[in-house]
Amino acid sequence: MAERTLAESLREKVRARPLPRHVAIIMDGNGRWAEARGLPRLAGHREGSESVRAVTREARRIGLEALTLYAFSAQNWSRPPDEVAGLMQLLAEYLDSERAEIMDNDVRLHAIGELDRLPGFVRERLERMRQESQGNRGLILTLALSYDAREDIAQAARRAAAEGVSLDRDALDARLWTVGLPELDLLVRTSGERRVSNFLLWQCAYAELAFTELLWPDFRELELLQVVDDFQRRERRFGLTGAQVAARDRA
Ligand code: FPP
Repeated sequence: MAERTLAESLREKVRARPLPRHVAIIMDGNGRWAEARGLPRLAGHREGSESVRAVTREARRIGLEALTLYAFSAQNWSRPPDEVAGLMQLLAEYLDSERAEIMDNDVRLHAIGELDRLPGFVRERLERMRQESQGNRGLILTLALSYDAREDIAQAARRAAAEGVSLDRDALDARLWTVGLPELDLLVRTSGERRVSNFLLWQCAYAELAFTELLWPDFRELELLQVVDDFQRRERRFGLTGAQVAARDRA
């Protein structure tokens, strides 16, 4: 009950101040969460998918424009086959069970990464959900799947070269998988690791970084509100001096 009250009052504060437009999360620590309880790693991923539901709901509630979740990296294919298979199954279950929630709440779902490497039953569900939700105008929820940020930059460069386009910043931006998403404002990583791990490397240019010791299955509504609240207290200077930023804000 006390926690509910805390979340409610923090939600009110957070909504009254300028919000980050785009938040991305490296959801780390599912395995450790499970191991600490003597459970199989997949139980951690399952609990982690509950955090995905809770955090997405809160992101929508406070009015974020975009939430991007690192659900599976290209390097994760090298994990034990039963863990990979279990994660793919969880993704399919998530897409089936969240359909009504996504549509009722005006969420636009899409995915970035080497999507052709995903098994057919995941690809089909993603594509169906993407098509069904593309007219929605609320939160853009992006799942990064078989994602590799350096590969994204390389494929954008290859496409520009093949099209004979000179490779400036805008040309690259327009060919990245993230085209159309707002500028990344805040990148969060759970589980105490302080690495970016090949996630949104180009897009991180001016993002604020937030690291929390919490394991992903323990990161829910209140924890999202807390990182957004912390973001809102920071001074973003974009290369200017503190005095220039203050003068700009006064103007
Ligand atoms: C990292 O924890 C997490 C992953 C590799 C998978 C993330 C997947 C989910 C949160 C659930 C399914 C996703 C959706 C969108 C429903 P880890 O396994 O590396 O943890 P560890 O570092 O403690 O071992």
